[in-house]
This record gives sequence, C-alpha cells and structure tokens, in this order.
Amino acid sequence: MLYGGAQNRRITIKDLQEAKEGGHKWPMITCYDALTAGIFDDAGFPVLLVGDSAAMVVFGYDSTIPVTVDDMLPLVAAVERGSKRALVVADLPFGSYQISDAQALETATQFMKQANAHAVKLEGGQSVVAQVKTLTNAGIAVMGHIGLTPQSVHGMGGYRVQGRGEQAETLLADALALQEAGAFAIVLEVVPAELAKGISETLTIPTIGIGAGRDTDAQVIVWQDLLGLGSEKPAKFVKQYANLRSEITSAVKNWAQDVITGAYPDEEHSYT
Ligand code: KIV
Repeated sequence: MLYGGAQNRRITIKDLQEAKEGGHKWPMITCYDALTAGIFDDAGFPVLLVGDSAAMVVFGYDSTIPVTVDDMLPLVAAVERGSKRALVVADLPFGSYQISDAQALETATQFMKQANAHAVKLEGGQSVVAQVKTLTNAGIAVMGHIGLTPQSVHGMGGYRVQGRGEQAETLLADALALQEAGAFAIVLEVVPAELAKGISETLTIPTIGIGAGRDTDAQVIVWQDLLGLGSEKPAKFVKQYANLRSEITSAVKNWAQDVITGAYPDEEHSYT
C-alpha cells in the first residue's frame, strides 16, 4: 500500500512500480508551496506534482503556456522542503524541452540540482521519445503525459477529449513508446475511459488518470479544483470535496467585520 503507508523515507519510482504489480491504486495531487506540501505529505500522498498548472492557479495566466523555468524552480524547491515522504515531480514548462535533447537535459538538470526534484514530467508521446531517452540515460526519472496536453492547447484546437476514434491507436502507440523510452509512469488526461483502461492493462508501468475514468492505476487532480478554489466552471471530471472559496470568504469577512466594529482584537488577543 502506497497511500498513507508508514514508511519513514521518500517514496521512490520502485514503490510505484510495485504498487502497479500489486494492483494498488494511489493518488497524486498537485502542490505549489511548502505549506500545502506538508499537509498533503502528512495526509499520506505518495506523489506531489508541481504542475505547470501553477501558471493558472499561482500566477494567474489563462493557460500553462507562459510559465517559465524560473517561475517553477522556487515552487518545486518549496514543495520538496515542505515534504518528507512524497516523491516530488517537477513539470517542465512549455518551450523548456522541445527544442532538443540537450535542452531537455539542461532543464531537467536545473530542476534536480537547484530545486531537489525527484523526477520530471513532460508532455507528448512519440515526439518526445528522444528527450525521454536522453533524460533516463542520464539517470533522471521521467513521467510522461499524453492525451489532452495543455501546453499544446492551440495545436489541438482547444481543450477537448483526445483519443476518440482513429486517434486511439496513436495514443496507445505514444504510451508504448514512452514506456520503451524509460518513462516510469504516464499521465493520461481527458481520454475515453475504455481507452485509458486498455492502455493501463497493456502497459507494465503505472498510468495516472485525470478525466480518464476509473481504470487507471492512479489518479491526479489539481488541488484547487478538488477543494473548491479553482475555476467556477470546473471540467466534467472534477468532483469537489470541499468548498474552500466560501469557507475562506466567510472567515475573512467575519474578521473584517470585527476589525470595523472594534470587536477584534479583544483582551484575549492583546498583550499586557
Ligand atoms: O500541470 C498539471 O497540474 C498537470 C496535471 C493536471 C496532470 O499536468
């Protein structure tokens, strides 16, 4: 069991492989700062993804495209410092690995050396096999990401389900190519559940679904979506487990009101 397991050490890609072989499902959650890293780590999450979704949820952009390596490095470093047990995966931003294998190696090396990342993630299938091989040959743990790859939103003509009809074969070929290149796991984003099931059964490495149905080996979610702090029109696959937006709004409004009326600070919260 990976989730909430009692190990007093970091989770490794070997643990994830053993979970696949043992048929144990596990959750991965996004994370962008030390505080939430500590919460999620204590809650037992085996893998924390410092996603380039930071572009939206941290930096306020409307897609993942603008975020840079310099933006992401301090977030990854903070998540690593804030966690004790989870494997910390750094997402490589758009434009930081597509140009060449050498560029991919240079970027991944920055994340490993400057931010202490334990693994990196990059988007794409057969088109990034050379990069994945270069990284894994250099001893870097690589997570793949296929299906809806948000960095290619314009190339895909919008955020839409991938892998329907004839595209299904390409997606399976992409998954197999990434596995062959040495990826230790693959994110499947917004693909039909049946296709994700087939890919998960075919691959020997773990698949991590997001909008990919219930039959992947693991699931990932952006934590703000999970807890009601994300978009007001969340995607179909998002199930909210809390409404932190309304909790936070009501708490800060109560404090503001107390400040205005003079009810805060009272004696209990003042020094003599
Ligand atoms: O950037 C991100 O948060 C991601 C996950 C949604 C898989 O890539």
